[in-house]
Amino acid sequence: MYSEKVMDHFMNPRNVGTIDNPDGVGEEGNPSCGDIMKMYLKVENDVILDAKFQTFGCGAAIASSSMATEMIKGKTLEEAWQLSNKAVAEALDGLPPIKMHCSVLAEETIHKAINDYLVKTGREPWGEPAAC
Ligand code: FES
Ligand code: FES
Repeated sequence: MYSEKVMDHFMNPRNVGTIDNPDGVGEEGNPSCGDIMKMYLKVENDVILDAKFQTFGCGAAIASSSMATEMIKGKTLEEAWQLSNKAVAEALDGLPPIKMHCSVLAEETIHKAINDYLVKTGREPWGEPAAC
């Protein structure tokens, strides 16, 4: 049911934890299952230098957070904003259809963390994350 990549990122998640004095923090919950994801960003000149996460959730949510944080490191804020949950799921060699919403959680949490950074640096937040 799950790809080897999903299992790998679930069993050995990358970037678990927090960042001291993060430049941006985002937290998002999925009301349908109660799972919660939190992301921390280190940003310099609008480039994401580091990303860490804590996910209280299912295996697909943990694998999505792990892959998503890997994918946004080194990216500009705009590039990271455009990372879709579909791209994260593809990078994991797919998620079962009923688990796609778990990857949406990662996309939304990244958006919240980016907006937190924008607001902290005196800018307008970008458009509301797309509804899942
Ligand atoms: Fe499932 Fe958003 S909660 S798609
Ligand atoms: Fe809740 Fe996957 S079942 S995020």
